[in-house]
Amino acid sequence: MTQRDIVYVNGSFVPRAEARVSVEDRGFVFGDGVYEVIRAINGRLFASRFHNDRLRRSLEGIRINLAAGDTPERFADIGRQLLKENDLLGGEATVYMQVTRGATTRVHNFPPSQIQPTVYISVARFTPYTDLAASGASAISHPDLRWGRCDLKTLNLLPNVLASQAAKERGAFEAMLIRDGVVTEGAKTNFFGVVNGSLRTHPCDTHILPGITRSVLRDLASDVGIELDETPIKADEIPRLSELFLTGTTTDVMPVVKLDDRPVADGKPGQLTRRLQRVLAESLASGD
Ligand code: PDD
Repeated sequence: MTQRDIVYVNGSFVPRAEARVSVEDRGFVFGDGVYEVIRAINGRLFASRFHNDRLRRSLEGIRINLAAGDTPERFADIGRQLLKENDLLGGEATVYMQVTRGATTRVHNFPPSQIQPTVYISVARFTPYTDLAASGASAISHPDLRWGRCDLKTLNLLPNVLASQAAKERGAFEAMLIRDGVVTEGAKTNFFGVVNGSLRTHPCDTHILPGITRSVLRDLASDVGIELDETPIKADEIPRLSELFLTGTTTDVMPVVKLDDRPVADGKPGQLTRRLQRVLAESLASGD
């Protein structure tokens, strides 16, 4: 049986190879749009309510109005439908959804209100990084060159792309971004560290994406008596880290055991990291 590859574009379910978006689409021309990536396990979207809320917030943040009848909840239903259409109701998959400000002759300011947003939703088989999660990953530190609204999940990912490539070229899994002398987050993940026994991460302000995994993990950690200190890790505290890990929809809790080619503490995943890996894995397995 051939693998089906159906995506959703602007109201239609079509084979991926036949899906079409205008070259004048503002997502293509300006990166003028927002997106979400949601984890699907056995056909169930993990933490979908949080992703829906974040998508709504991103849309409001860049002032895109959805067409009448369209909502993040409807997009999540389309994602579920796509999982079915693509035989992905069993096992691990991701749902990608993207909304742009639509297609129109190139002009920087917003197009006329009758121009409808472009909506694209697709699904893909996903293989968790099981081996790396066991051994621990490496990261590089990298300047955070992004704009002032990193809390919105926009398509403008150029600094993230360049930082990710810099990490790849140095054989690392992720780039840990540093702005004004503090660790903000990763190119595609949130970073957590343990300094003097306390679990620290950057607070949710305009300098980081409010990661869904970050917030799920904060609640799970609190349930098992681990409180999160949202005081950013200073660059000069990095040598004193006893543990470091990152989180994300496709990375779960990933220990970081090497930073800039030097071991973090003893170069092995830390105890707190291991514990948080377990609580998140249980939550992923049991539902949202
Ligand atoms: N990345 N920070 C950034 C800059 C991100 O792009 C992401 C997600 C995260 C983690 O957020 P969450 O836990 O909600 O996945 C943090 C997605 C997965 C991506 O761009 O593919």
